[in-house]
Amino acid sequence: MTKPKPADRSVAGRKLDHLRAVLEDPDVERGRSGFDTISLTHRALPELDLDAVDTSTRFLDKPLSFPLLISSMTGGTGDEIARINRNLAEAAEATGVAMSVGSQRVLFTDPASKGSFQLRDAAPSIPLIGNIGAVQLNAGLNAGHCLQAVQALEADGLYLHLNPLQEAVQVEGDRDFSNLSGKISDLVSNMPVPVLIKEVGAGLSSSDVELAYAAGIRHFDVAGRGGTSWSRIEYHRRADEEDDLGLVFQDWGLTTVESLLETRDVLVKKTDPTTLIASGGLRDGVDMAKSIILGADLCGMAAPFLAAAQESSAQVIRQIEKLRREFQTAMFLLGCADVSQLNANVSLIRSRSKFW
Ligand code: FNR
Repeated sequence: MTKPKPADRSVAGRKLDHLRAVLEDPDVERGRSGFDTISLTHRALPELDLDAVDTSTRFLDKPLSFPLLISSMTGGTGDEIARINRNLAEAAEATGVAMSVGSQRVLFTDPASKGSFQLRDAAPSIPLIGNIGAVQLNAGLNAGHCLQAVQALEADGLYLHLNPLQEAVQVEGDRDFSNLSGKISDLVSNMPVPVLIKEVGAGLSSSDVELAYAAGIRHFDVAGRGGTSWSRIEYHRRADEEDDLGLVFQDWGLTTVESLLETRDVLVKKTDPTTLIASGGLRDGVDMAKSIILGADLCGMAAPFLAAAQESSAQVIRQIEKLRREFQTAMFLLGCADVSQLNANVSLIRSRSKFW
């Protein structure tokens, strides 16, 4: 593997570096999120009509055709980035799934990026979720900035991403993650919409979930290991040929399945209603069905939509429809007539490997 040119240190340039790394290095996709360790019980006599299997659900008080979220990817200046977000938003609206945008910190460094987040006209009815790095609360951003991010998108919620591994490897990373849970707690009480937390590919552990719950967070996206590796993406942006920090940590973290189980075990003991989102290496409707069986309410995918989003909304729509068909087929073959029969129904699991 050859190391490409050194990082473009502007925020806009960094976003393009990230897109290129995902599209050009196949090993950014790590595999082994844990789903292949789970097998499910096939029903030869499901007593269902496949076409009548109801995949619909709700998220943030809005209906979805099936439990899919296009996970946070991008936003910023330039035609390419604006086109990607618009194609994703149009496709999410046409198919009735949720969408989150990439980090909106760029709003405060490149105000011209605002247009790439003004997606409500393209997606009037679906849940749209904003995105800010939690560490930015230690680097000059406050509740007022977060509110501007929500308003630019007319968002139904705001993701705070937790990415200590990425920031540790990123050339220009923000590495002060001290005392963040108190700031998250203040933010939660000052925001007009729910604040959600997510990792970006290394998973949430039970201690993280406990801290975030105590801070008032009620929506948890595990974004576990096994899909896109941000450590490896940032490796490409470190100029020194000898510097392999990002490779040493490219498989660091909890797999998505480990993180889902761990997060669910914490959340089932809580009194307030919570939402659990599975993401990190989900790649088909069977991974989605397994996630819902493990207790997830919603499933997120990012990298699989990137190439299609560069092309057209029609390509993204085709991909989402394929996922819905796969998810509906899995439900049919498990004998589940609706998503409530699938959700947290571990009796559908036939065997688990020793892995967990
Ligand atoms: C991401 N991801 C991400 N997450 C986030 O919270 N803010 C962001 O700005 C970005 N940017 C971003 C860009 C690109 C090109 C990709 C592929 C991903 C992380 C993403 O939302 C998700 O958590 C991980 O990628 C894991 O999901 P997949 O890609 O394995 O399905």
